[in-house]
Amino acid sequence: MVKSTSRNAKISLDSQQTGRSDGLGRDRVGVVVLVGFMGAGKTTVGQELARRLNWRFYDLDDLIQATEGTTIEQIFQQRGEIAFRQVERRILASALANKSSRQVLALGGGAFVDPENQTLLRSAGVPAVFLDAPVEELFARSDQPGVVRPLRRDRDHFCALYEQRRPEYARAAVCVQTSGKEIAVIAAEVIEALKLKPGEGE
Ligand code: S3P
Repeated sequence: MVKSTSRNAKISLDSQQTGRSDGLGRDRVGVVVLVGFMGAGKTTVGQELARRLNWRFYDLDDLIQATEGTTIEQIFQQRGEIAFRQVERRILASALANKSSRQVLALGGGAFVDPENQTLLRSAGVPAVFLDAPVEELFARSDQPGVVRPLRRDRDHFCALYEQRRPEYARAAVCVQTSGKEIAVIAAEVIEALKLKPGEGE
């Protein structure tokens, strides 16, 4: 099993911008985003992470669907990927603007690859956690009945897109390998890597 990698220097730099104090003069993380390719487990891990922390959980794709009143599939089909990315960017910005509660936010597989979104997250002091696994495993995991992923085409396209995006995902503050691990273990690794306090909601 591969251990998670933490880049704490980057995290503490980012956390200077969060504007939340723990009473000891140190700033605290108030929002965490989970990033990674389709099938990485961002939603499942995010829900468990939020439960443990007693934070709110949001899934960016769900926010997009609720705001637009349609499905991701329909947005891709009727308006195309470029339009989808514009919507994604706008809804991410509004989710980050809502800092009234501590939250774990699972991003769709392409959101963190967008440089504008990375800049937005960086300036908001929000650390990104990259959930990774071998691409074959991601391909198998992302084949879920009832879930349509417009960019999950054939295996070759899936692998090529993963390879293309991986260097961007690797810019996240923390990288956690998920292969063969229980959801609870992955959530615990994220908490440890970001030095979050379980049960400290508001
Ligand atoms: C996408 C991944 C999907 C969804 C959309 C685009 C991508 O989210 O946002 O279909 O570009 O990889 P998941 O990663 O949750 O499947």
